Amino acid sequence: MKPAVSTHQLTKHYGRIKAVENLTLDIPEGSVFGILGPNGSGKTTTLGMLLDVINPTYGSYSWSGSASKTENRCKIGSLLETPCFYPYLSAVMNLKIIATIKKAGHDRIDEVLKTVGLYERRNSQYRTYSLGMKQRLALAAALLSNPPLLILDEPTNGLDPVGIAEIRDIILAVAKLGKTVILASHLLDEVQKVCSHFCILDKGRLVHSGPVSDVSESEQRVELGATDMELLRETIKAYPPLIQSEEEKDKVIALIPIDKVSEFSQFLSKKGIIITHFLTRRKSLEKQFLDILKEQQ
Ligand SMILES: Nc1ncnc2c1ncn2[C@@H]1O[C@H](COP(=O)(O)OP(=O)(O)OP(=O)(O)O)[C@@H](O)[C@H]1O
Ligand SMILES: [Mg+2]
Repeated sequence: MKPAVSTHQLTKHYGRIKAVENLTLDIPEGSVFGILGPNGSGKTTTLGMLLDVINPTYGSYSWSGSASKTENRCKIGSLLETPCFYPYLSAVMNLKIIATIKKAGHDRIDEVLKTVGLYERRNSQYRTYSLGMKQRLALAAALLSNPPLLILDEPTNGLDPVGIAEIRDIILAVAKLGKTVILASHLLDEVQKVCSHFCILDKGRLVHSGPVSDVSESEQRVELGATDMELLRETIKAYPPLIQSEEEKDKVIALIPIDKVSEFSQFLSKKGIIITHFLTRRKSLEKQFLDILKEQQ
């Protein structure tokens, strides 16, 4: 796949702090690319360098397509920090001001307000907006110039589950238009839901990069419940291809090879287990994330 952005040994040191170290990465065009990592791992610094607000100590990056940096900069919509909106002005008035600054024209204002679900409230003053609405307006501002690339730093920070789901839907809708989205997040579940690709940073270094679907290629997680949980636990442990089993609330999670799911369920019923719950789940990104970080230590 053609990269929209490639970084080459991108590095940022603050004195002795190695915020980002030798980051070489391809971000595929049209992907929703999640940058994951614990606090302080260099996510914001990386995005800042891509947006030219932080000067790299070493290394470089390149965008597909146009040659000049200024040209490229105009093609990016970003959300690095919550933008300052005028509290007593409406969404429409605020976007008009931003459009003028961005030389974007006012013709897309209604469209972006519809994309982020604020069209009905377009004439309300900004100060009357909820946190989720403010965040959606920030996304609308980022979309004003119809950029092919969006860079978002923790776009769901501080939002409740409904607000998070709204932002997720907007990101998915934007991705459907063929745009590339790069987003930093620490919400692994969210990244798994919206991202097609992801990488993991740890102390400024790249420790993993790949498609999200790779996460569950060879193993299948099966969530199980039975009338006799004790018998279920023992029987699962006696299933020869079992990779691992663990407890989760009132369920047992069995990790088995992906091609053994039907054989596994037959095995359980042959052993006389009365199954009340059988659910195949993808190995969570959270599990993979923690496993990868553990390997680094
Ligand atoms: N202006 C700065 N001066 C000195 N150190 C900095 C500066 N900005 C970032 N750092 C350091 O660089 C490292 C990476 O910070 P960064 O903000 O990129 O991490 P992050 O992954 O975005 O973290 P978080 O998840 O908390 O947002 C941290 O150790 C941080 O303290
Ligand atoms: Mg950050």
